[in-house]
Amino acid sequence: MIDFGVGILGTGKYLPDRILTNSDLEKMVDTSDEWIVRRTGMKKRHLLDDNMPSYMMGAEAARLAIEDAGLAPGDIDLIIVSTEVPDYLSPSMACLIQNSINAENAVAFDVNAACSGFVYAVTIARQFIQTGYYRHVLVVANEGLSRVVDWESRNTCVLFGDAAGAVVLGRVSREYGIKETYLASFGNLGHNLTIPCCYISEEDRQKRSPGKERTLWQDGSEVFAFAVRAMAESIKTVIDKAGITIEDVDLIIPHQANLRIINGAAKRLGIDDEKLSVILHETGNISSASVPVALDIENKNRRLKNGDTVVLVAFGGGLTCGSVVLTWGK
Ligand code: ACO
Repeated sequence: MIDFGVGILGTGKYLPDRILTNSDLEKMVDTSDEWIVRRTGMKKRHLLDDNMPSYMMGAEAARLAIEDAGLAPGDIDLIIVSTEVPDYLSPSMACLIQNSINAENAVAFDVNAACSGFVYAVTIARQFIQTGYYRHVLVVANEGLSRVVDWESRNTCVLFGDAAGAVVLGRVSREYGIKETYLASFGNLGHNLTIPCCYISEEDRQKRSPGKERTLWQDGSEVFAFAVRAMAESIKTVIDKAGITIEDVDLIIPHQANLRIINGAAKRLGIDDEKLSVILHETGNISSASVPVALDIENKNRRLKNGDTVVLVAFGGGLTCGSVVLTWGK
């Protein structure tokens, strides 16, 4: 008989110091601050320095999350890293971070569900804790998307930034923690957003400029339509599963790909703006790091109160989507 809940014990984030503003982008491609703000809501993004490995962001976010949880690296049993831009195909980002933070007792592996990866990883972590197999699981979302952006393509380069967010999950009192989760994958739609790696098809080659074969390409309007639908359905499904209504939800922390996507999904469900956590004007699209970075900001700014009902929701490449509903508190 399980007499505990599974909840978030601590949060952390890392955003690189280097900032790229919309006016910087105006000097790089044929775009304008006005277009970017009107079509996306974004104003700036943080970028990794060329000589910094991406996993260093995740390691720093992880250290802060472990400290916030009141734990030491040696207390971590499992590290799951969500990433769609690993530094190496092997070793995994999770093993690189394990080594960097001296979490010598942890098992470590990566998951890739693109921007939905944090929600997927939290769902996996919950199972391990709920069964009693592990006690403390560190989930890190580590995304260095600037490394796969074509910086000469205005269609994509204005959208993305780099960041990492982390949480430590563990046992909490039964009334707190994760109440329900929902995951879905649509491999039949995967061609709408691709980042080739070890194999380049002729189709992938034709979508990109010569020499840019390993950059991110997306059909923006197809992904947009999917995103609004997927985000609304993911929120609705998870709150239905939890037996609550949208009025019961205090805060929604969505993936931050475009303000119009967030507002479109919110409008479908009749969600008030003040219930939405929005950070994309500061970060751009930071893939699966969006949700944990926003969560850390809400946690550290004390907007989250004990007993608040919080929904985490994301969509992304794959295509994938997912959501988590939890009661904040330990
Ligand atoms: N600056 C100025 N003009 C631009 C820019 C730019 N940066 N980018 C495109 N345009 C132009 C286009 O060329 C087009 O011009 P045309 O009408 O002369 O052809 C016009 O603006 C409109 O282009 P659209 O693509 O229709 O613009 P839209 O309003 O759809 O916005 C965007 C494009 C922002 C990409 C939007 O479609 C979107 O947000 N899509 C979803 C993206 C997303 O969520 N991706 C998930 C990524 S998650 C992951 O896994 C990484």
